[in-house]
Amino acid sequence: MEMNIALLPGDGIGPEVIDQAVKVVKAIGQKFGHKITFTEAVVGAAAIDATGEPYPDSTHEIAAASDAVLFGAIGDPKYDNDPKAKVRPEQGLLLMRQKLGLFANVRPTFTFPSLVHKSPLKLDRVDGVDFVFFRELTGGIYFGEPRGRNEQGTKAFDTNVYSKHEIVRLARMGFEAAQKRRKLLTCVDKANVMATSRLWRETVQELAPEYPDVKVEYEFVDAVAMRLIQWPKAYDVLITENLFGDILTDEASVISGSMGLMPSASLGTSIKLFEPIHGSYPQAAGKDIANPLATVLSAAMMFDYAFDLKEEAQLISDVVNLSLDEGYVTEDIADGGTSYKTSEVGDWLAAKILA
Ligand code: IPM
Ligand code: MN
Repeated sequence: MEMNIALLPGDGIGPEVIDQAVKVVKAIGQKFGHKITFTEAVVGAAAIDATGEPYPDSTHEIAAASDAVLFGAIGDPKYDNDPKAKVRPEQGLLLMRQKLGLFANVRPTFTFPSLVHKSPLKLDRVDGVDFVFFRELTGGIYFGEPRGRNEQGTKAFDTNVYSKHEIVRLARMGFEAAQKRRKLLTCVDKANVMATSRLWRETVQELAPEYPDVKVEYEFVDAVAMRLIQWPKAYDVLITENLFGDILTDEASVISGSMGLMPSASLGTSIKLFEPIHGSYPQAAGKDIANPLATVLSAAMMFDYAFDLKEEAQLISDVVNLSLDEGYVTEDIADGGTSYKTSEVGDWLAAKILA
């Protein structure tokens, strides 16, 4: 197969972890006979430094013309404590999602047998956890208008707004995913308080008869925040709006004990984007110590979701599991034992793929 992949390393540790994913993707290409072309572009603080804009048109053109986008991370501390900064790296991410039509963010939580003892939860609660969030990504309070301040600057407001079609397309993805999994869908909302949530719930209720094999549950977001910790195994597929999904998926990403190891995919009408859930981790940038596995697993998701190449995806998760079993890992998960550099882990994984 021919694949044209856009690389958007972004900020902080983004470039280093993307480098390792590229090694792995190249090795897969070599082994399975795919012709893979990479085109790199700037986004986030790196793009502001280079062009003045966090998601320049030149980057959008490269991303839009690609078959899939591999994205690192966005964010730079020099903007975090400056609420008055006019241009912010995060705007690049939001604009990219909007312009590429990436309306669904797929964030799985699963366990790695060799890491599950590191979970902050008791082993019996977390062993075997396997659920996936479908977070709406281009609507809700992240984009709703009006937003801003009153004239005196003493009052600020954001608007949460959802149209039915935005809920329908996200919910359908969730239903279809549930059909291929354990056939349980949880609609996460705040329908006891919010009008948008009542529209979510009503819309999901209308769709449910079309998926008679899927059991649907409706839970309030505050209860889910609690039950994800208490009984994470109770969940299979969860669908939710943008802000609730932002918050809950950070919670979800650490419960399996593999903090920093979870991949994600953003899907939409055409282009698909793949990125690690962890952020730009500026303290580690340039030190060759960051854990590249979430990005490598995002590349595995790319083969699966963007190219429907299951064998390639599986081989990548197999070598990742092997590196965990054999302790060929970065210092964050080495438990004080021997640890390896980011680049060494990337080389090792690529070599195992080709072995
Ligand atoms: C995420 C991030 C972004 C979000 C930020 C960086 C804008 O937290 O991808 O979850 O809130 O969506
Ligand atoms: Mn987030």
